[in-house]
Amino acid sequence: NVIANAIIGLDALDINKIDDLMIKLDNTENKSNLGANAILGVSLAVLKAGANYLDIPLYKHIGGLRAHVLPIPLVNVINGGAHAFGKLDIQEFMIVPMKADSFHEAVRMAAETFHTLKSILERDNLSTAVGDEGGFSPEINSNKEALDYLTKAIKEAGYEGRMFIALDVAASEFISEDNTYKLKGGRILTSDDLINTYKKWIKEYPIVSIEDGLGEEDFEGWKKLSLELNPYIQNVGDDLFVTNKKIFMEGVKNGIGNSILIKLNQIGTFTETMDTIEYARNHGYSYIISHRSGETVDTTISDLAVGTNALEIKTGSMSRAERIEKYNRLMEIEDELGSSGVYAGKLINN
Ligand code: PGA
Ligand code: ZN
Repeated sequence: NVIANAIIGLDALDINKIDDLMIKLDNTENKSNLGANAILGVSLAVLKAGANYLDIPLYKHIGGLRAHVLPIPLVNVINGGAHAFGKLDIQEFMIVPMKADSFHEAVRMAAETFHTLKSILERDNLSTAVGDEGGFSPEINSNKEALDYLTKAIKEAGYEGRMFIALDVAASEFISEDNTYKLKGGRILTSDDLINTYKKWIKEYPIVSIEDGLGEEDFEGWKKLSLELNPYIQNVGDDLFVTNKKIFMEGVKNGIGNSILIKLNQIGTFTETMDTIEYARNHGYSYIISHRSGETVDTTISDLAVGTNALEIKTGSMSRAERIEKYNRLMEIEDELGSSGVYAGKLINN
């Protein structure tokens, strides 16, 4: 009744204007009036209508002739934190098939490692039930043990040196009011303790990326974390920046992190998402296009990744249809692009 009346008859190619109109119509800071679900639904429908009208694939509509990069997938193979039962504090343990020649090969490497991990867990009589994002949620006792399982699976699958590790700690989920961190086992850590743990881990394991290593409220901790880790790894803000350009700008000005997770429904329109991506690009931050723990089979984010030449995508494990759909769409795009497509891992390795 509200949005339709305002936009029917407008030009779908003028999506900036339509998104802007919906933001004004909503007239709240956090889209609580019309709801981000309604606004984003319309925004993406308009985006797709534009691509249909032009009769071009969605990624070309987004990125034009230069849309040609297939992103490195950060593949979540062990789920912990709030996304699974069990004792793991860290929400996501991911494998990163960086040194592949193509996206197809990256998917094969990740799938083989995922299934090797399954066999190893079965051998140790651990559960191979999967969590929200399709990674296993075994009853192991420590975060370090999960890292050991990952390393073992990478080795046994034959990808040592080509496959790396990324973490989403999601520390906002276990920070207390006094900015200490309460682990599931009961131990209480300071931000310094966590930073030191990460420093140790990045020496011991092939970790290339850590997301939300500290809670979003722990600004002083984040400053320190950035000073210590930015030179060595990708230091990603998800809960920290929530795809919101204003919040992100504050972080960039203070040298916080060096990478941002991009979720369309955190900010609620296509146009604002692109504004945030543009700001990241202009300030030397990497950006990772991401799914949510709750997902549908919609594959817009695959096209968004290629359309923005994103070097990375985070879209879950090698199981659960709503995750696999995104990989399938990316492989379809890679086939379509043929020799004009390039796997981001090759860009980085060169
Ligand atoms: P969420 O988790 O969709 O539950 O926020 C995903 C993430 O933290 O990256
Ligand atoms: Zn996250």
